[in-house]
Amino acid sequence: LIVQATDRTVMIGLAADSGCGKSTFMRRMIGVFGGSPHAPEGGNPESNTLLSDMATVICLDDYHCLDRTGRKEKGVTALDPKAQDFELMYEQAKAIKEGKSIDKPIYNHVSGLLDPAETIKPPKIMVLEGLHPFYDERVRDLYDFKIYLDISDEVKFAWKIQRDMKERGHSLESIKASIEARRPDFEAYIDPQKKHADVIIQVLPTQLIPDEKEGKVLRVRFIQKEGVNFFKPTFLFDEGSTISWIPCGRKLTCSFPGIKFFYGPDTYYGEEVSILEMDGQFDKIEELIYVESHLSNTSAKFYGEITQQMLKNSQFPGSTNGTGLFQTIVGLKIREVYEAVVETTVKSAV
Ligand code: ADP
Ligand code: G6P
Repeated sequence: LIVQATDRTVMIGLAADSGCGKSTFMRRMIGVFGGSPHAPEGGNPESNTLLSDMATVICLDDYHCLDRTGRKEKGVTALDPKAQDFELMYEQAKAIKEGKSIDKPIYNHVSGLLDPAETIKPPKIMVLEGLHPFYDERVRDLYDFKIYLDISDEVKFAWKIQRDMKERGHSLESIKASIEARRPDFEAYIDPQKKHADVIIQVLPTQLIPDEKEGKVLRVRFIQKEGVNFFKPTFLFDEGSTISWIPCGRKLTCSFPGIKFFYGPDTYYGEEVSILEMDGQFDKIEELIYVESHLSNTSAKFYGEITQQMLKNSQFPGSTNGTGLFQTIVGLKIREVYEAVVETTVKSAV
């Protein structure tokens, strides 16, 4: 009872451009907490909000102050902060952290209009995901843990082609044009937020195949800040050393082009970080257990938990490469931050 009276909502921020794997990431995170997402009760079917027993995920598109027509009239994109109501975002995020319910607007992606608000109760974990979670300093200071998904242009392009051309019937030219049109605002307003994140998952084309730019084989770097409250960076073999590792051989099957890991200290925007990197992909997800046995500070509760999560979600995109692996580890990290915050809140209350 004391626990319930004192534990507060743990605030998580997830930033990325649209179409960069935020929903996939959220599904992996909710999987770590053992829940499956469900829709808000009796809610608007256009609601962007994801609920599970542990977490509520709000899509920050809901804080658009300019709807589609408004953006057209003013000539601004959805990436422009002028299209975003940071005042309301701050007020409502703060209210949730203080344990108060909010009436949050809904941005309807079908109509491009703002729908009537829905009531959101303070959950155990609140995730704010979208284009601008770290743009406003007041909002930024509310988070317990901040994540940025940094997808390189080549890979973003490959994923967009996959989705918009094959699934939505857009032409190659129109995809290229829409990426180019978004670039200036992306570089001005979205990309700079990554320096505020506690962890960055950076997705690049492989270095294992010369000139491979199709985004089929990926080099994924997990950039982890040092000295973040309740967060210990994951390392390979020996903390603080610099290590290159090719696990392929007798214990792990690797078809071309193989798998290469790297681990070492570095700096990122002037701050100390540890980088764990995986280039290439697994042939068999179950063989990840061999890699898992050489990782430390993963925040897993038992040996094999990472591999088990990856197997459970094997149908999600990125399950055989570093995107899936590092998203899963970040899920475990969020669980650890959550447990640490709740425990200290309870302790300090006692
Ligand atoms: P968002 O929620 O940011 O818009 P999604 O999670 O819906 O992004 O992913 C958008 C698309 O990008 C997916 O349909 C898929 O084609 C591609 N994608 C996302 N993550 C990965 C990944 N790790 N590996 C390969 N493709 C991916
Ligand atoms: C991005 C944003 C959305 C926006 C969409 C299209 O995906 O996340 O908020 O709706 O761009 O913007 P448009 O102005 O064409 O409706």
